[in-house]
Amino acid sequence: MRVDKLKLINFRTYKSLSFLPSEGLTVITGENAQGKTNVLEALFMCAFGRSHRTSKDNDLIAWGTENEMGGGCYIGLELHSRSGSHNIEIKMRPGEKKKIFIDRAQAERTGELMGMLNVVMFAPEDLSIIKEGPAERRRFLDMEISQLKPSYYCNLQRYNSVLKQRNALLKDGGLDRAKQLFMWNEQLAMCGAKIMQDRLEFMDILSGISCELHKNISSSKETLDVFYSPSVGFADDMGDIIKVKEKIITALERAEETDLIRCYTSVGPHRDDITVKINGTDVRAFGSQGQKRTAALSLKLSELELIKRISLEKPVLLLDDVLSELDDMRQRFLLESVSGCQCILTCTSIDSVRKAGLNDFEEYNCKMGYLTKV
Ligand SMILES: Nc1ncnc2c1ncn2[C@@H]1O[C@H](COP(=O)(O)OP(=O)(O)O)[C@@H](O)[C@H]1O
Ligand SMILES: [Mg+2]
Repeated sequence: MRVDKLKLINFRTYKSLSFLPSEGLTVITGENAQGKTNVLEALFMCAFGRSHRTSKDNDLIAWGTENEMGGGCYIGLELHSRSGSHNIEIKMRPGEKKKIFIDRAQAERTGELMGMLNVVMFAPEDLSIIKEGPAERRRFLDMEISQLKPSYYCNLQRYNSVLKQRNALLKDGGLDRAKQLFMWNEQLAMCGAKIMQDRLEFMDILSGISCELHKNISSSKETLDVFYSPSVGFADDMGDIIKVKEKIITALERAEETDLIRCYTSVGPHRDDITVKINGTDVRAFGSQGQKRTAALSLKLSELELIKRISLEKPVLLLDDVLSELDDMRQRFLLESVSGCQCILTCTSIDSVRKAGLNDFEEYNCKMGYLTKV
């Protein structure tokens, strides 16, 4: 898969940009706060329909242009994948719902974008995925599965909307709210069971790949074990959706009394997590900083490998300022895994790229919202 052209109008620091990345490696250098990450953010938007760093679309519109005639911002992308050439466009106006166009036809749902452009974004904050709370790890799961299985994304959205309504009922419902909960439990459990099945399936494959990768990164000193830790235990019933659904309903009913007091739903896939162990010990609780970062790198690289295997296509890599975060050995692993993919890398100094042994690339310099080819 490769991006042929990215066009931006009034997106963040860019009044107008036309960017044609190389088929291989493109390096964007520049001082801080010049707009390097903004380019990757725009590409990420085309893959997921949302930014990786804000949920507020309005933040993306270039300041001061909100009230211009025909105001708002535009992202246009031309890409090439196994299914041919495609065009993705996103239009955002202040206070309006964003509009997404795929091959010139307006998409009804963001979910339609999933799988059109597969990207793997790697930013410094990804190295703390093990250190962070479960929400970060669920986000990782959700993003990756959505790219590989668009129906997962739709189901997840449905689940979140039912969850919101159930929580609203717990909070504001009248005296008979216990009775109404019954209906929401049913719907929540149906969507939830599908989510759990997909997460388990994904984690099973990811676990095998990450174990192998980690063995290499740690020179066979460490065994990495990554597995799915669902909020509702499913024993051996995972293959049977009806049984999983029943397990969720039972868990919801069991928690009902406390949920009614706390006014939120305390069990379900929205409380799932991933457990990461090195040599049998929980890394999050007992691992060193170095182990946490290496495990995160292994996870991230497995994601890349898994997308390659499942989609039978190389994703586009977005490496945001990560070289400086990794020591020589880890850099080498990262750069070996990404070779052969189209890759857009940002950094403050080209020296870090040369030092990592990369010579074959196109370089752009980013300054105050302009990209200039070097
Ligand atoms: N909506 C916006 N309109 C104009 N400028 C913005 C907007 N949002 C962020 N910026 C500016 O973008 C810059 C940060 O861009 P970023 O791509 O993160 O920089 P970096 O080069 O460090 O990766 C900051 O200068 C910030 O003020
Ligand atoms: Mg940046």
